[in-house]
Amino acid sequence: MYLKFFNLKRSPFEITPDPSFLFPTRRHNEALATLYYGVERRKGFVVLTGEVGTGKTLLLRCLLQLLKYRKDTEYAYVFNGRLSPIEFLQYVTADFGLPAANKNKTELLLELVRYVIARSQKNLTNVLVVDEAHHLSADILEEIRLLTNLETSNAKLLQILLVGQPELDEKLDSIELRQLKQRIAFRAHLLPLDLSETEKYIERRLQLAGADSRGLLLFPAPTSAAVYRHSRGIPRLINTICENALIAAYAKQVQFVTPEIIESIATDFRLGVVRQPQPEPPKASSTDDIDVRKAARMLLELMQKPPAAVQ
Ligand SMILES: Nc1ncnc2c1ncn2[C@@H]1O[C@H](COP(=O)(O)OP(=O)(O)O)[C@@H](O)[C@H]1O
Ligand SMILES: [Mg+2]
Repeated sequence: MYLKFFNLKRSPFEITPDPSFLFPTRRHNEALATLYYGVERRKGFVVLTGEVGTGKTLLLRCLLQLLKYRKDTEYAYVFNGRLSPIEFLQYVTADFGLPAANKNKTELLLELVRYVIARSQKNLTNVLVVDEAHHLSADILEEIRLLTNLETSNAKLLQILLVGQPELDEKLDSIELRQLKQRIAFRAHLLPLDLSETEKYIERRLQLAGADSRGLLLFPAPTSAAVYRHSRGIPRLINTICENALIAAYAKQVQFVTPEIIESIATDFRLGVVRQPQPEPPKASSTDDIDVRKAARMLLELMQKPPAAVQ
């Protein structure tokens, strides 16, 4: 409804994770590059964590888009961690396009293992991606550990990406799962944006929504500082605040958002509590042989200009 008033072509602050809206912070770039290279180099097991709303699912969608360009790669994408072990295996098997109906656990595992081995013999890449992985039960994580055993002397046959909230790290730290933790080849962690990133994030989304030079001034510096304060730099909250701010500005028929509008939205959404920024997690694994910055640049170019097929 406000699009016409602000002369925008589409909604700038939707909360669905849309890869075309990716704002590439250094963290997001490096995390995407880590996931991509973990798969490409067949390193086996990669973990991405981040607080709710920091952009994990968005990054996964970007990754899956990149993997679609690769004709040598097939993936199964589980986006719900709350499954029983049999449901999990059924889902993964079916998502790889294999027959899964009326099969017991052993049959499903056999189906999967046969498929992965046959494709690996043809030098093809297989990826299992699990979002919301902090919900996975210990039983499923144990199945996943067994799947990480599929390997030759120099490569893993199934690439496994687990993505979830920081509780996932806590799960992997537990005594029972220490064997799985030891297999993590790469790890990445997303953090909220800082003030300057928040300002640029807002501007970038307005630009992608078709804002003209006047539209780009919708959130002047004191306003985006207020958005930062109340969102703590968490992209999902930035989107929610900014979307509501545009609606409020439209209701008032004003041409830009004032800090007072942000304050009143923060009160409505009870965003008053300011938490301390999270500490950097320890670097548990080696990203030493990856030039992540270079990789990230290349991936961004690839996302903007997809080739017919990348080998
Ligand atoms: N780097 C980013 N660039 C653009 N939008 C982002 C970025 N990070 C997060 N978002 C947006 O924030 C919202 C929440 O992201 P999402 O991936 O669902 O978070 P998570 O999965 O970590 O909870 C989505 O609308 C997403 O598009
Ligand atoms: Mg998510």
